[in-house]
Amino acid sequence: PALEKWVDEVPRPGVVEPTGTKDGHPYYEIEMREVEQKLHSDLPPTTVWGYGGQFPGPTIEAEQGEPIYVRWQNGLPDDHLLPVDTTVHDEMIPYDIDGVRTVPHLHGGNVESASDGKAQGWFTRDFAETGPKFENKDYYYVNDQPPATLWYHDHSVGITRLNVYAGLAGFYLLRSDHERELDLPAGEHEIPLVIQDRSFNEDGSLFYPSAVSADRGGDDSYPETSIVPEFYGDTPVVNGTAWPRLSVDPESYRFRLLNGSNSRYYTLKLLAYDESAGETGTDGPSFVQIGNDGGLLSEPVAVDGRLELGAGQRADVVVDFSDYAGETLLLHNDAPSLYRGSLEDSDETKPLPEIMLVDVADSTTGDATGSVPDELTTLPELPVESVDTHRHLTLAGGTDEYGRMKHHLGDQAQPSGYALDDPVTEKPTVGTTEIWSIANNTPMSHPMHLHLVHFQVLGREPLSDYDPETDGIDPETLEGPEPYELGWNDVVTVDPTEVVHIIVHFGEFEGLFNDQTGEYMWHCHMIEHEDYDMMRPFEVLPEDD
Ligand code: C2O
Ligand code: CU
Repeated sequence: PALEKWVDEVPRPGVVEPTGTKDGHPYYEIEMREVEQKLHSDLPPTTVWGYGGQFPGPTIEAEQGEPIYVRWQNGLPDDHLLPVDTTVHDEMIPYDIDGVRTVPHLHGGNVESASDGKAQGWFTRDFAETGPKFENKDYYYVNDQPPATLWYHDHSVGITRLNVYAGLAGFYLLRSDHERELDLPAGEHEIPLVIQDRSFNEDGSLFYPSAVSADRGGDDSYPETSIVPEFYGDTPVVNGTAWPRLSVDPESYRFRLLNGSNSRYYTLKLLAYDESAGETGTDGPSFVQIGNDGGLLSEPVAVDGRLELGAGQRADVVVDFSDYAGETLLLHNDAPSLYRGSLEDSDETKPLPEIMLVDVADSTTGDATGSVPDELTTLPELPVESVDTHRHLTLAGGTDEYGRMKHHLGDQAQPSGYALDDPVTEKPTVGTTEIWSIANNTPMSHPMHLHLVHFQVLGREPLSDYDPETDGIDPETLEGPEPYELGWNDVVTVDPTEVVHIIVHFGEFEGLFNDQTGEYMWHCHMIEHEDYDMMRPFEVLPEDD
């Protein structure tokens, strides 16, 4: 349906309160439920799945150094809301059991393996059925990492794309005294914004394709209900509202931006906007980036070009609207759907240039707080000289038995990749530092994500300049990280025909993070890719092993 744009004000997700305590720590019970929610004034209510019955889920506010417990409860109906392809990972998924498989994952959380929300640690309603890697009903989040914009979302093997699309995602904001002392814009001036793309049927229900389009090879030989290679919706949805507008005062705001889309990339900028003509004009205020996936940058960086956000990525930014009183701005995206990609037989381009309108009030209310200090935090360096292990990893495309596109993660020994349940090949040891060089042998960009850790981006180089037989990296020879890639990341974009080098320390490091061991996942965060089959485990070994 053609929806009128910029009708509804963007809501702020509510904050969830603990229901009690456990072992002296706050204890939350958050139930996943199917609910009807108005996503646009002109749309009939949409059936969505929400943590706490809300889409997006309620924000968890946590404090560095103060652990919490969460019991995630599955109160979802027996049948899935969206088309389930039962050929995906059918070797490990019991598609015939009753109920919907769910498993919440705290994205960016430096958490124990048992509480990480592993893809095969799923559970159905009332924990009636559980997956082979299910361990505990109560998840323990230790919260001793730096303050950051984290988020939680579903991670069930083979249906993550459907569960997240149905609405299972929310913010988790980790704060600290140090961060409060910076006096950044707060309260009404701090707004989490999760950007997603959705498509709707006339009756207001969510549309998710059940078949691959012909230009991506779809034909009769494919399973009747088939996973699609990527998903690109035609409607921007911010904090659960389609085509929203945001009213601000001509003051500074802190935005916690999250790309919670299934596949889509965004390259964002604020532009002057003539609403009656529907035309964009000159550049609006810049994003001043103060933080990244894993916390604050050492100092603020003005992003003069576009701010890139791959699926799963966060940007903590401050925008000063004081020179724009009375103006209307557009949050504009110029990323094509197949990001930096080319596919021979496809004419698929589904751009989504208009994301959100920003109305700046005529005058300030004078209660503005916050500013951006010149120094934000101390960001330790991970010297390349300290590296113990250099891993050479590959992103590869392939096809399945039906001829459908399927992606894999591999290494030097097997560049074409491994299946999810092949033996673990990445086994870092606590206390060591590694370089992961990720080479993209596919024709599109992938936002690559590691659980548990945060890494620094050393830089990138063309595949043609890279020799996977050589150990060690000279960062001087690389194209350095983009401004929005500084600091601690847990997702990095790897463009086609390039290799990205990241440096990561496993375990406690200069008082940051902690020593966790056990199994975690790394994967592409385009969820259609993650589901099929661009995800692998890694296992962190204890020090004396
Ligand atoms: Cu945001 Cu493994 O995921
Ligand atoms: Cu991918």
